[in-house]
Amino acid sequence: MNSTGSGSETVVRHQVERLTEIGIALSAELRLDALLEKTLTYAREMTHADAGTLYLLRNGQLHFSILQNQSLGIFQGGVSGPPIELPPVDLKKENVSAYAALLGQIVRIDDVYASTQFDFSGPRRYDKQTGYRSRSMLVVPMKNHHGEVTGVLQLINCMDRTTGSVVHFSDKAVRLAHALASQAAVAITNAGLIDEIKNLFESLIRVLANAIDQKSPYTGNHVQRVAEFNVVLARAINEKKDGPFAQTEFTPEQLEEIRLAGWLHDVGKVTTPVHIMDKATKLEAIMDRIALIEARFDAIARGIALQAERRKCAALAGGAGAVDIERIDSDAQQATASLLDDLAFLRRCNQPGEFMEDDKIARVRQIAAKTYVDAEGAEKTYLTPDEVKNLSIRKGTLTDEEFQIMRDHVSMTERMLRQVPFAGRLKNVPQYASQHHEKLNGKGYPHGLNGANLPLQSRILAIADFYEALSARDRPYKKPMPEEMVLTILRRAADDGEIDADVLALLTQDGIHRTFEKEYAAAKTRTEGGTLKI
Ligand SMILES: [Fe+2]
Ligand SMILES: [Fe+2]
Repeated sequence: MNSTGSGSETVVRHQVERLTEIGIALSAELRLDALLEKTLTYAREMTHADAGTLYLLRNGQLHFSILQNQSLGIFQGGVSGPPIELPPVDLKKENVSAYAALLGQIVRIDDVYASTQFDFSGPRRYDKQTGYRSRSMLVVPMKNHHGEVTGVLQLINCMDRTTGSVVHFSDKAVRLAHALASQAAVAITNAGLIDEIKNLFESLIRVLANAIDQKSPYTGNHVQRVAEFNVVLARAINEKKDGPFAQTEFTPEQLEEIRLAGWLHDVGKVTTPVHIMDKATKLEAIMDRIALIEARFDAIARGIALQAERRKCAALAGGAGAVDIERIDSDAQQATASLLDDLAFLRRCNQPGEFMEDDKIARVRQIAAKTYVDAEGAEKTYLTPDEVKNLSIRKGTLTDEEFQIMRDHVSMTERMLRQVPFAGRLKNVPQYASQHHEKLNGKGYPHGLNGANLPLQSRILAIADFYEALSARDRPYKKPMPEEMVLTILRRAADDGEIDADVLALLTQDGIHRTFEKEYAAAKTRTEGGTLKI
């Protein structure tokens, strides 16, 4: 015997080594589709099978997962091939793959056409259509570490490598296929578990995002749209082969981080009170308090009329003439007209779009200082201090305190996500998610970070968030902003050093937002009532 051993020993050693390599490769593959494809490819390689099928056992049926035929050049399923259109196989003992699954036994057949035990009308039909001739067959149930059958490996036509003719599967081929099927079954179970955990995590994130979107009709599908647009922008950067992003390419793992940060960016809004999120007018709390002012002014108007009648009675009793009575009426009319004018002014002030300059605030205070006597005889001012405070909001509908509560959502996002053990390739999700209101010029919140501290991922999310807030079309009581105005506002923000000018240029130059809006509208029509996914 020489140092490399005899010929057969060398072959065996080579096979053991190859089997070990395959075992390592299979256990390292976490994508189920890729794993299934590799399993069949390796099994065919080890047993010299020309063709093969891998079935997965699900819901009492064997589902075609991978189908390969070297001679016919057919490779379907998995990560590289087109999907398989064939219907699943019922678990009936006359089907050879079902038999192997039901009994957990390996089946070896030298010529399927000569077999009487199984129904091979399917393979015969397939052969007739394709001109193929199925002859030898090896069917191996795939059992996981619990001994449960999870799938079936079916190998067809063992090729003699010297003569090129079809021969039967040898005992050695059976042992190799068996060993490989067992390794694959364990790896498939693991990949399935990882898939399950991923799906569970994904569902939880979507439930959370939908809960926030459902919380307020004013924010509508904001989270979902931001999440989708965020990924659209990141992918566009990957595709860009010139300009500032020519060298930037996010890995699939980084894209996943970006995607999750988008879905979770506003998660802190679960703690924001709805009446602040939805505050549509300056006086709105649980209700729009302009109604209280209207009722109060109505009572004051009645008071003016009553007082005029009393004055008239007194004047008449004192012998006053028609001129005096007319003067009293005219005074009352003037007072009422002035009151109604004040009320109309306050109604205008209450609107979200009404910008409150100094003179308007001064008039609110003037009105507020006026007094009337209520039904209990107490003297009251026309407006309460809180009403004056709210009506004096210069821009929008929120007071400084309410604005701070709104802003707090992002600190809450940060706090909540820091409690989730995002690790490894997802470790930056909390950071990106909680930086979407930061600005490059340092004027953002919650930390007032600047360009030097804001990674590209956070800048993309900030633009996706800003764009969505401006462009949303599905909010109540709010007309969609024309596209030109949206872009003008975004450009101004970029000029002011708030958002990333390069990301914005990509969005505007390539019309990425238009493609997104078209796809979003189409996806919305397709999935009305269901979960939206572009
Ligand atoms: Fe936000
Ligand atoms: Fe947002």
